[in-house]
Amino acid sequence: GPRKYLIGGNWKCNGDWDASIDRVTMFNGCGDIPANVEVVLCVSDIYIPMLLQSIRTDIAVGGQNCGVNKSCGACTGETGSHQLKAIGCTWVIVGHSERREGFGMAGETVGLCAEKCKVALDNGLSVMFAIGEKKEERENGTTMDVCASQLAPLAKILDAKDWEKVAIAYEPVWAIGTGLTATPEMAQETHKNIRDWVSTNVSPEIAEAVRIQYGGSMKGANAKDLLAQPDIDGGLIGGASLKDDFFNVINGVP
Ligand code: G3H
Repeated sequence: GPRKYLIGGNWKCNGDWDASIDRVTMFNGCGDIPANVEVVLCVSDIYIPMLLQSIRTDIAVGGQNCGVNKSCGACTGETGSHQLKAIGCTWVIVGHSERREGFGMAGETVGLCAEKCKVALDNGLSVMFAIGEKKEERENGTTMDVCASQLAPLAKILDAKDWEKVAIAYEPVWAIGTGLTATPEMAQETHKNIRDWVSTNVSPEIAEAVRIQYGGSMKGANAKDLLAQPDIDGGLIGGASLKDDFFNVINGVP
């Protein structure tokens, strides 16, 4: 395709120190990464320094979330994007559905997610901006309304230059961690709709350049068919990024 593939791994909160070291050792032994693929692993903040020191240099390291303040000392419990940048991260995930949902606490609003993304970009990071609909929203036909409502506040505050460092991670919530993957045709349809939305609401040039990753039970066994779709430019991988199957996804690019 015209865009470089972007494969992100999201370890979420899975595993301890030893498991994280084991995964690094495993990936370091996993063979070459195709030249048309960019790979980034987003891990818990506490493991970031270890990965930055020991993972192969062709895998970038990123955070799974960041604070909304440009540079804040008095933000107990947050990790600022300025801190992620300073330690050597190049990426951060913003707006993952699990954070939008909030784990029983107040979740992140569409406005907050957009603002976090802008601040992270201003602090020099690239952002995987996650969007996607829930099961009942897909069923009542509002998938694209939901995606548009998540993208609109972002489109409002980003300038053209900002978009160069943004990838959109389309993750249908019903497919996350469930083993239910969107079919390649279903995913392609939504990816195309998202690209069309960007074309209309941002610009045709940015729509052509922006990478749209698919996330939701993506693994070696289904990656090839998903990645073969014209508007699927990569993946954001949860469960399969904990195992060497992550490299089957990476090697599944056309
Ligand atoms: O960020 C990753 C997604 O939430 C997908 O997770 O591959 O375990 O379904 P999953």
